[in-house]
Amino acid sequence: MNILHIDSSILGEQSVSRSLTSAAVARLRALSPDARVVYRDLAANPIPQFSAALVAAGATPPEQLDEPTRRDAATLGAVLEELLAADVIVVGVPMYNFGIPSQLKSWLDALAVPGKTFSYDENGAKGLLGAKRFVIASARGGLFGEDGPYAALEHQESYLRSFLGFLGVTRIEIVRAEGVRISQAQAESAIAAALQEASQLQPA
Ligand SMILES: Cc1cc2nc3c(=O)[nH]c(=O)nc-3n(C[C@H](O)[C@H](O)[C@H](O)COP(=O)(O)O)c2cc1C
Repeated sequence: MNILHIDSSILGEQSVSRSLTSAAVARLRALSPDARVVYRDLAANPIPQFSAALVAAGATPPEQLDEPTRRDAATLGAVLEELLAADVIVVGVPMYNFGIPSQLKSWLDALAVPGKTFSYDENGAKGLLGAKRFVIASARGGLFGEDGPYAALEHQESYLRSFLGFLGVTRIEIVRAEGVRISQAQAESAIAAALQEASQLQPA
């Protein structure tokens, strides 16, 4: 089994989502000791943002690209290959300004590639990632429950779910610590419950 472990928090050792991805990967490794883990830290090593040159690079022979564009295109290609090689993807997803970190958005941009992760036919778009399992380690400062006053501001998990759904992913598990900025007590109990959930993830 191949596990892809992605972190995107800018908060380093203070990060809640990093502690959750770490617990989730530890659990998956305990369940599958032979698993191979590939790790990518999108905050420490941001991947290139889209540009017109980079979008065009896919249809241009590499020798016709300038050096920075060739390098960036190679990085995006490697990011896509990592995803395609993975069976289980564990993603740390903090909520920043009601959405996902821009670093994580750049990762998603690298994954939406026609012919690789989705395709079009006469019936419209078809996702190609149906065999993959995603574990989303979500952390957010406030409370965004469906019946709460802030539900309409929730563009973090819902965005990711929609995006992955477009790519055909149906197996999405969410391990969530929320309300972590409300009080110390709320943070501690939310993080403890989420760590407990991570430690009980089921086998593939
Ligand atoms: C730049 C920034 C923006 C944030 N924006 C929000 C927000 O819009 N809503 C919210 O509930 N919490 C917000 N928070 C709180 C984070 O969601 C919370 O600290 C969470 O633990 C972040 O995950 P991390 O610890 O893995 O980075 C924000 C925190 C930072 C640093």
